[in-house]
Amino acid sequence: MKLLAGNSNRPLAEAIAAYLRVELTRAKVQRFNDMEVFVEIHENVRGEDVFIIQSTSYPANDNLMELLVCTDALRRASAKRITAVVPYFGYARQDRKPGPRTPISAKLVANLVTEAGAHRVLTMELHAGQIQGFFDIPVDNLFSTPLMVPDIKANLGTDDLTIVSPDVGGVQRARGFAKRLDVGLAIIDKRRERAGHSEVMNVIGEVEGRRCILVDDIVDSGGTLCNAADALLEAGATAVQAYVTHGVLSAGAVSRIAASSLERLVITDSIRPTEGVRVADKVRVLSIAPLIGEAIARIASEASVSSLFD
Ligand code: R5P
Repeated sequence: MKLLAGNSNRPLAEAIAAYLRVELTRAKVQRFNDMEVFVEIHENVRGEDVFIIQSTSYPANDNLMELLVCTDALRRASAKRITAVVPYFGYARQDRKPGPRTPISAKLVANLVTEAGAHRVLTMELHAGQIQGFFDIPVDNLFSTPLMVPDIKANLGTDDLTIVSPDVGGVQRARGFAKRLDVGLAIIDKRRERAGHSEVMNVIGEVEGRRCILVDDIVDSGGTLCNAADALLEAGATAVQAYVTHGVLSAGAVSRIAASSLERLVITDSIRPTEGVRVADKVRVLSIAPLIGEAIARIASEASVSSLFD
């Protein structure tokens, strides 16, 4: 097995390599002066089972291009099997046409990854499970429950706890958490009655006197979580925390969360946390390195990956 790291999240790639007790493959993934990506692999990969670790997070297009160019380099170097390990799969939110004459960019990215030469994909907490169907190669979509459920049990216990989906689209994910923790489930239904009128947040389910945990796949601006926390407290929740897999945390998000009624935000390192995220009081980062490392070990030995969730 060989592990090749792009530049998007080197610390995660190193932690995965340490879990698997292998060295990262020696390679140069760099830029020409005009920002073209150039890759040079410095060891033989002929006939090898190679895993490229690269989240397509900010800067999304550069990181995606690195992934494609690395894949092409490996294919031309006769790697036997290439797995694109994309802990955060950017463009996943563009998974349908929201209006006429708009693209389905998630499908385009799936085509690009396949066409570049990947034989399979390993990713985590896809925005929508159906994105697996955009690929005609095998896709393993890991869930964050094996990581987050034990963390919730250890740090918060389950007394008076309710899991909350911040929108209707996330209900299946939230139900998975609630089931594993054996606690109740609530849903926030966001509605804009008329264009130009502010959104109304209806809380569906019992949250009065409960400690609520919002679960989501992505926190980007933080708006969804902060508004949901306010709505839950207004409905009588005693405290609100959030567990979110991918900390996109674009400009202003960390200070928005700091100023919000959210008590704590737990994210993973699927996207490399910035310095601002690392020092933020309310934000805690869980590492997915053991989970991804274990999935890679199982793919390499043709063992079951889904049994990771049993
Ligand atoms: C949307 O469907 C996603 O699951 C997240 O809720 C959304 O991307 C969060 O975005 P923001 O943090 O900008 O509200």
